Order: sequence, then C-alpha cells, then structure tokens
Amino acid sequence: TGLPLLPPGFRFGMATSAYQIEGAFDADGKGPSIWDTFTARPGTVRHGEHGRVAIDHYHRYAEDVAHVADAGAHDYRFSFSWPRVLPTGTGTVNEPGLDFYDRLVDELLARGVRPVPTIYHWDLPQALEDAGGWLSRDTAYAFADYAATLAGRLGDRVRDWITLNEMSVQVLYGYALTAHAPGRGLGFGALPAAHHQLLAHGLAVRALRAAGAATVGVAAQHFPVTPAGDDPADVAAAELFATLTNWTFADPILRGAYPDAVRDLLPVRDGDLEIISAPLDFYGVNYYEPTRIEAPRPGRDYRGVLEVEIPPDLPFAPVPPEATSRTDFGWAIVPAGLTTILTTLHDRYPALPPIVITENGASFHDAPPSPDGRVADERRTAYLDAHLRAVLDAISAGVEVRGYYVWSALDNFEWAAGYAERFGLVHVDRVTLRRTRKDSWHWFRSLIAAQPG
Ligand code: FCB
Repeated sequence: TGLPLLPPGFRFGMATSAYQIEGAFDADGKGPSIWDTFTARPGTVRHGEHGRVAIDHYHRYAEDVAHVADAGAHDYRFSFSWPRVLPTGTGTVNEPGLDFYDRLVDELLARGVRPVPTIYHWDLPQALEDAGGWLSRDTAYAFADYAATLAGRLGDRVRDWITLNEMSVQVLYGYALTAHAPGRGLGFGALPAAHHQLLAHGLAVRALRAAGAATVGVAAQHFPVTPAGDDPADVAAAELFATLTNWTFADPILRGAYPDAVRDLLPVRDGDLEIISAPLDFYGVNYYEPTRIEAPRPGRDYRGVLEVEIPPDLPFAPVPPEATSRTDFGWAIVPAGLTTILTTLHDRYPALPPIVITENGASFHDAPPSPDGRVADERRTAYLDAHLRAVLDAISAGVEVRGYYVWSALDNFEWAAGYAERFGLVHVDRVTLRRTRKDSWHWFRSLIAAQPG
C-alpha cells in the first residue's frame, strides 16, 4: 500500500533509444543504419512498419524533454544514432547530426534533467555492417573512436555514459537468429559478434575515462533462466542458454573471464579481457521477464516466443514462462524475477559495481485518449509498482541499486513488433503523433515527489 519508497539519493528516470523515436532517417546528412535496411526488407517487421518517421522526436525533442522533466525525472537515458553522427561509421563527423544531440543535451540540462546517454543501441551504420559488422574486430575500434568523438563534443555537459545496450540481444536476435537487424541467422557462428561488442565496450570505457567522464556503465539484459521440466536434457538446455545470454556477456566484464563453455568459440586476443573488464561505476540491468527453456522436441512449433523459426540445430528452445498474468505483448509478469536476477548477480560477482535498472516496463495496448485527455493504464502502473517493490526486496537482501529507469518515456517503434506494442508513460497517436500523458505518467510523477529525496 502507498507508494514504494526508495533509499535517499535514488535516481528515477525514463529511457528511449534513437531508432525507436527519432525518425528523420535521412535528414541533415544521416547515413543508413542496419535498422533502416532491415525494416525496408519485406517480412521483417509486423505490418511492414519502420522507423523512418518513428515518433518524430528529432523535430519534437523539446516537447518530449518537457514530458520527462515535468514528471520530475532525475535522469533521461537516450541513445545516439551512430550513422547520424558518422554516416558511414568512421571518418568525418556529420556536424548537423551531432548538433542535434547538442541541442537535446542543452534542453535536458535547461530543464534540470541529467542526460545519461547510451552510445550504441543497435543501429549500426550500414557501411560498417557491409564491412563485416560486429563479426569484424575493426568495428570495435571504430566504436571507440566514435565514443571519443561524442565525449569530445559533449563531455563538458554529459558526465554519465552507457557504452552499449543489450549486446546479448543483438547477438542472439540479430546475428544468431533473424528476428532483428542485421538478420544474419548464423547460429553459434554469431559468437564472434559477442566478443567484438564486448571489446568495443572495453575500448570505449578507456576512451570515455580519457575524456574525463564522471561515471561509465553498460546496459545489459538479464533474466533468471529456468528449465521447462526436470528432464536432464531440459536442465542442460537451460543452463547453456543462461550461459550464452547472461554469463557470456557479464563474466568478461565483471570477472575478466569467459565461461568455459564458450571460451574456445571466441576470437580472444591477448590483453582483450583486461580491456573488457575495466572497472565500471555502475552496471545497468534491463529486466522484463524470466526465460524458460527446454531441449527442442522435433516437430514442436517454437515461433510463439521469438516470432522467428528456431534453427533446427540450436540445442535450446524458449517456451512461455509460468506467470499468473501477462502484458499485452504476451510477456510474463514476474516481478520476483527481478529480485532473483539482482541477487544472483550480487552473489556471482564479488566486484559487482552499484546497479542501475536501466530498463523496465510493459507494453499494454492502451485505449486512445478519452475526450478529456486521459489514458487509463492501471495495468502499467501496477507492473511498475510491483517491480519497484522487487527492487526494494533486492536492496533488503544486500544488493546496491542506485536508480530505476522506466522503458519507455513515450510509445515508440518496438523493433520487429512495430508500433502496436506500447511501452510509454506518454501515449503517442500513430496518425497525428500527438502526445498524451497516461495515468502511469501521473503516477510516476507522484512517486518521485513522494521520495525521501
Ligand atoms: C529491450 C530493448 C529496448 C526495448 C525494450 C522493450 O530489449 O533494449 O529497446 O525495445 O526491450
């Protein structure tokens, strides 16, 4: 009962990412990203939707910042579009593109909101993908240069940085499977992309520190993985899946070594793990739902969870997690899974830095605003409230959690699912792009106002 109260100094925020909100896909010299290319290919996204206009944040950023600031949010997590800043990924800066982020940062600071940008949230410049993408080690070095460029231009005002978003998801969905850009479908052949993203992270940490960053972190998706049953084949499949999605990405960063099961599949060179394991100021955790895995049974249809064909040779298959309720996206609502993954990280890594929940939220297919401008979304409020209480449980268990960012500030382009999935605290009309604050936005404002400070 009442509003959950977090420890003094706890940071509340809202999160977005460039491709999901900006639009302006070719404005002012921006180059194409892998998401521009992927969405232009038939059959990749529900209803053929794409982010060419998205929610037009590129032109409406001042209004959007007001929605964040008026709620009293302390932090705003957004991402830079790499090909907006560097159209082909390397080389000469596209000044008008970088100017956009300059204006955005100034607007946030003028409204008293701290910018906490992510340098990369999945929209690789297409030119780099053409040269091998994350399968190429060169991309990691290009990323470090790009990070240095951003810090050089914005580092006087941006003090807090997140390197990459959910490397595991891009590697699994985009390189191992075909659900996300670049849609390669390589199975285990995707693993080099994991190492190169991790190397990119480590090289960027160095570059950001050299540029005087105050704090540096990463945003990783994590979830508890449970086997669908006691069958040893299911147990082994779940363990392998947890290794590939959670520990292959967290272990090198947080304990400087890869899990045994993947070590020989990765193109690691001398010195890489020292770079990747450079200490962080915070570790960002994105959490939505737990994962349930079974050993694939021939003939069973697994498209329900990932919405793509699982290659027949993959030794695991996701099945719907057990839950008493689900979001309208079909995701299981299991707040205790957040407590579990936080305590698991705490137990596994003695050197775990303080945690920030860099994403958590839910898609419900909210009804359009009523004539008096209300969007009643009590299920979203209940989801967020329950997950904040799960954070409190983790804090009581000894985990240091310093902040919580709602995914998302505004309804936006939900990747392969398109615009039908709405995660925003602010409703966006798909035709007029008009913004309307949902009841959950008003709840979030009261929540922040009620904190001990
Ligand atoms: C995460 C992504 C984010 C958003 C949420 C719903 O995996 O990082 O961009 O799409 O899921």
